[in-house]
Amino acid sequence: MAKKLFIKTYGCQMNVYDSARMADVLAPLGYGRTDSADGADLVILNTCHVREKASEKVFAELGRLKATKRARQADGADMMIVVAGCVAQAEGEEIMRRAPHVDVVLGPQTYHRLPEMVARAFRTAAQPGRGAGILDTEFPVESKFDHLPDAAAPQGITAFLTVQEGCDKFCTFCVVPYTRGAEFSRGVDDVTSEARRLVEAGAREITLLGQNVNAYHGAAPRVSISAAGSAPAEWRLGRLIRHLAEIDGLQRIRYTTSHPRDMDDELIEAHGAVPALMPCLHLPVQSGSDRVLAAMNRQHTADDYRRTIDRLRRARPDIALSSDFMVGHPGEDDADFAATLRLAEDVGYAQAYSFKYSPRPGTPAAAMANQISDAIKSERLDRLQAVLRAQQNEFNRACVGRIFAVLLDRAGRHLGQLAGRSPYLQPVRVSAPPALLGMIVDVEIRSAQSNSLTGDRAAGVPDRVACCGADSSTIGLSEARA
Ligand code: SAH
Ligand code: SF4
Ligand code: F3S
Repeated sequence: MAKKLFIKTYGCQMNVYDSARMADVLAPLGYGRTDSADGADLVILNTCHVREKASEKVFAELGRLKATKRARQADGADMMIVVAGCVAQAEGEEIMRRAPHVDVVLGPQTYHRLPEMVARAFRTAAQPGRGAGILDTEFPVESKFDHLPDAAAPQGITAFLTVQEGCDKFCTFCVVPYTRGAEFSRGVDDVTSEARRLVEAGAREITLLGQNVNAYHGAAPRVSISAAGSAPAEWRLGRLIRHLAEIDGLQRIRYTTSHPRDMDDELIEAHGAVPALMPCLHLPVQSGSDRVLAAMNRQHTADDYRRTIDRLRRARPDIALSSDFMVGHPGEDDADFAATLRLAEDVGYAQAYSFKYSPRPGTPAAAMANQISDAIKSERLDRLQAVLRAQQNEFNRACVGRIFAVLLDRAGRHLGQLAGRSPYLQPVRVSAPPALLGMIVDVEIRSAQSNSLTGDRAAGVPDRVACCGADSSTIGLSEARA
């Protein structure tokens, strides 16, 4: 009988991708995924360290798992606990010390060695007076991508594909360069063959992932190097997107998360030239104050960001923007925060995430003297979120009456309903038969909620199966806000 594997994923989409790949490396050992820790033979917590609460949640979960493991052992079975991901990388020793019931701790770059570690942990567990668990958080010389098997289970109609790892930008507040390690890009051939496999397994939309995905600079395809001596040895993201758009059956491409500094001409032009590239972009700005942006080491000004948005809108007038904002970085005063509100008003976002700065161990900002009180952070966050929420509601309201191409990728909440995503990533619910799952259909939007839309299949328009969906039915943010 298959052994049961439960993976709980925290954090960003890259962790979602990594969890799928951990399941792939464990499949040959007889593990199949289950959706609860109860009765599981192996539990993996794939953790995030980006904000304070994220790691607290992991320790709370480990407390609960201790009881589950004990109960299972009392029944004569066992449960192995693995902590993976960014908390594991940053606080591996601490986890081993505080949670001795954990069997394996491994970082985001070593999970291709998981089968070997699990086997070692089993051998240790079989010995009387078993020793401490296994810790593997060195950044390896080899790339995990060269050692991962092909996916064992299809990801589905929408799929993630990590093309870039790590970060060399060292924003003062951020743990990612320490938890994920140095920046690294997968070669174009490697990415393309994985994309083809995903499409063959049913994916219609692929989101290219990286902590700094638009810093991508992967080795050019082998044929192109040999065909022309002068061809560049590396491709940037814009060129990769054009190349992937040629894959038959791949209808939609997205990418996340981008850094404003890496929005080069090639990538911006791709937004105008590649119909499969969806007309929305998550481009985190964090702050609208040049003083704070400099203190954060973001390496651009607020006006640089505004100019990038202008260039994007010239290339793709209907592009919708989303962003991450952070309030209360050390040193942020009222005038800095006012500049952030101004920037949000100027750009006009379709959607955005916003956070209170939280000091992370080992980062430069945590050691800065001028920390901001929690009360001020909360007050600023409330004010910013009110602006962003109003923008999102306005954007969604302006969609009512439009016809959107919706990729139906899952069952809806009610019988006879399917759900999917608009080109702008808004969840859309529509009455449709199950046969339309995986297809792009035109939907007339009837009503807008704050986080989703509801519509009906547009009358007189045949269901479209083979077009990107961004061509005939998109709206621009400026149009939406007018
Ligand atoms: N690579 C992306 C961000 C990755 S982290 C970029 O450069 O924009 C995702 C978001 O978490 C960040 O954009 C930031 O807004 C938030 N974040 C990161 N570190 C944080 C911290 N110490 N406190 C609060 N929010 C943080
Ligand atoms: Fe973190 Fe900055 Fe790198 Fe983004 S660019 S992952 S915020 S260090
Ligand atoms: Fe979190 Fe690591 Fe992603 S810290 S946001 S899981 S890169």
